[in-house]
Amino acid sequence: MLGSPCLLWLLAVTFSLVPRAQPLTPQGFEEEEEDETPWPPSSPVPCDYDHCRHLQVPCKELQGAGQRACLCPGLSSPAQPPDPPRLGEVYMVAEEGRAVVHWCAPSSPVHQYWLLLWEGSRAPQKGPPLNTTVRRAELKGLKAGGAYVICVVAANEAGESSVPGADGESLEGANFPDFGPCRRLAVPPRPLTLVHVAVGVGSGLALLSCSALVWHFCLRERWGCPRRR
Ligand SMILES: *[C@@H]1O[C@H](CO)[C@@H](O)[C@H](O)[C@H]1NC(C)=O
Repeated sequence: MLGSPCLLWLLAVTFSLVPRAQPLTPQGFEEEEEDETPWPPSSPVPCDYDHCRHLQVPCKELQGAGQRACLCPGLSSPAQPPDPPRLGEVYMVAEEGRAVVHWCAPSSPVHQYWLLLWEGSRAPQKGPPLNTTVRRAELKGLKAGGAYVICVVAANEAGESSVPGADGESLEGANFPDFGPCRRLAVPPRPLTLVHVAVGVGSGLALLSCSALVWHFCLRERWGCPRRR
């Protein structure tokens, strides 16, 4: 008879505690979420736009296509020439004399890009025009052991981005900042050339040793040594 009131009391205590304990956690979370996201969920988010991504559709077009409003990074005025793009990694395949160049778009409206390649002190070679989505291009015909300067140029209706050396100043010995539009490229010499050099130096040394031996054993006998007389 004592067992059942005790059991009832335990049950009552358990059920009365559980509903009180449960709401605490969700309430706590709700408060934190409200603090972190002050905007309602329908507010615009940044567009899926990466200024370094190859074949990146301009942000304006992303805004038009999406069902949800999104925000684009600010751009400079279309009435001004674009800021210089930022040259990124340059992947060189020295054996084939080519290099793949990557860059990132400036915060400016851009209609096209092109590459400029200086070899020594000659006038730069201008690459083909590349549309506004392009962030990667290939250079071909690089010479093994050659020294080049590569720049990427952005252009719109108001003009083109600035490039060092465009006004005739010499690029030789010029230093290019890391986040600028230009880079110095040194193509490594062909591995075959190194082998040739090694073989050349090796045969030179062998010839020298041979002539030393020949002089020691033959010529010295014939001519005699002054000390032996
Ligand atoms: C831009 O050029 C790339 C590479 O040549 C090409 O794949 C793409 O279709 C072009 N886009 C437009 C909009 O012309």
